[in-house]
Amino acid sequence: MRMAKVLMALHVLKKAGISLGNKDVFDYGFGAGTFYRYCPPSSRLFGVEIDPLNVAAVQEMLKSRGQHGADLQTIEIATWEQHPLLQRDYDVILCSHVLEHLQKPIEFLDVVCSRLRKGGVFVGLVPLNERKMDPHHVQIVFDPKIRTWARAAGLHVHAYMEDDPWLYWLQPTFTHDSGWRHTVAQLLSLGLGIPATLLGPDRWFSLSKHYAHMSGSKPVQAAFVLGVDPPKRPVLSDPMETRRPQGRRFADDKFLAGSRTGVGEDRVV
Ligand SMILES: C[S@@+](CC[C@H](N)C(=O)[O-])C[C@H]1O[C@@H](n2cnc3c(N)ncnc32)[C@H](O)[C@@H]1O
Repeated sequence: MRMAKVLMALHVLKKAGISLGNKDVFDYGFGAGTFYRYCPPSSRLFGVEIDPLNVAAVQEMLKSRGQHGADLQTIEIATWEQHPLLQRDYDVILCSHVLEHLQKPIEFLDVVCSRLRKGGVFVGLVPLNERKMDPHHVQIVFDPKIRTWARAAGLHVHAYMEDDPWLYWLQPTFTHDSGWRHTVAQLLSLGLGIPATLLGPDRWFSLSKHYAHMSGSKPVQAAFVLGVDPPKRPVLSDPMETRRPQGRRFADDKFLAGSRTGVGEDRVV
């Protein structure tokens, strides 16, 4: 998980008024386990990944950081619904860059979010504006599609943001699984994590906005918080909704082409 993803996940959680302290946090498809590093010590950590070596490596990483007691397990895609960690409830469920891999994201949201406790939230991150489609992705994701998925799964959008324009022009490099392009992509990812960490979310998102403006880059990620109940916070109307021309369908090229919002724009909706 790149640092940009972590910053965005933490930012939307903050916008939705959710803290991670003393919560059961489940990361479905935790990858390198980066998000766990940013959970407070009082969070109880759970997660699943496909590769057992990956699971063991993240477990070791957490132990070496003094984060003991995380329950991380392997999962078989064919039988994912029956996994023991999906038979218990959580306060926060994170799915970073998972939904775009799924043939049936609505059914997935339905099952996973049935494990949310009262007041619990689902945090999603998805790629946007892919200039070259990643061969592993089976969904092209954009803002109205996320809202359609959420509605169909009976969920409310509590917060939404789009950001991370930095790798827009280089995104095709990230579609390689091996070789020198893959190595370059990994190095770029890691390299960008350094200023992101040093600057912190506010300055990083502000810098992103300027960079996007200067370079003509689009946001390459969306982060959002979904809940079973409507948001408790004051519901601000989404100005972009009112700007959408009447009768325009999701299949419209303009909407399919990508996001409707600018980089770093976030909304409590
Ligand atoms: C690109 S990785 C994301 C890793 C990490 N969350 C991150 O953001 O860097 C995609 C993850 O989605 C999960 N996944 C992929 N295909 C899936 C499928 N068909 N069904 C269920 N989960 C899947 C796997 O756990 C995989 O590690």
